[in-house]
Amino acid sequence: MDTRFPDACDRILLDSAALRSRVTELGCAITRDYEGQDLRLITVLKGGLYFLADLARAIDLPLAMDFLAVSPYFAGKGGVVRLTKDLSDDIGGASVLLVEDVVDTGLTVNYVLSLLRAHNPARLDVCTLLDKPARRIADVPISYCGFTMPDRFLVGYGLDLNGQYRNLPSIASLRDEAVLA
Ligand code: IMP
Ligand code: MG
Repeated sequence: MDTRFPDACDRILLDSAALRSRVTELGCAITRDYEGQDLRLITVLKGGLYFLADLARAIDLPLAMDFLAVSPYFAGKGGVVRLTKDLSDDIGGASVLLVEDVVDTGLTVNYVLSLLRAHNPARLDVCTLLDKPARRIADVPISYCGFTMPDRFLVGYGLDLNGQYRNLPSIASLRDEAVLA
């Protein structure tokens, strides 16, 4: 069990061994499915970075990586997402795999998929480490999912609270008091 466990956390839900073995399985499945294709892994900064770095090393194929950044802002009642960093490379005709840390309401992935689709990739799929279906608003197609999680606020392995806790090697739920603070 990991020794790093901040006071703000109440329980480790996925330790580093569980994450490692699931990432290896996902990497094997992607290796099988994308052989011979121009594979591009694209993630949304900053949360997806940790998963992307491990997943890329678990895929035994030539591939390239690229990054987007978005910032959520709230207009009226619905959450809206705005692009703050665009892709560096052309993805026209490529097999794009959008690698996400977590799909919660689905609004972010939905928005990013529409942006990517406009660049005419040959193939576009979603690989998310975590799926939190309880609060889904936008229906998003998920081709590869690491773990289905309960509706708790999670930190670690890329997931943050106000920029903190991303570097925890495991994924933990936060105490309610810490989320509300
Ligand atoms: P969405 O609600 O699916 O659009 O998710 C938007 C973003 O909220 C994700 O990319 C994460 O950055 C963040 N998010 C959702 N759930 C959690 C969580 O449990 N911990 C930390 N960040 C989260
Ligand atoms: Mg994110």
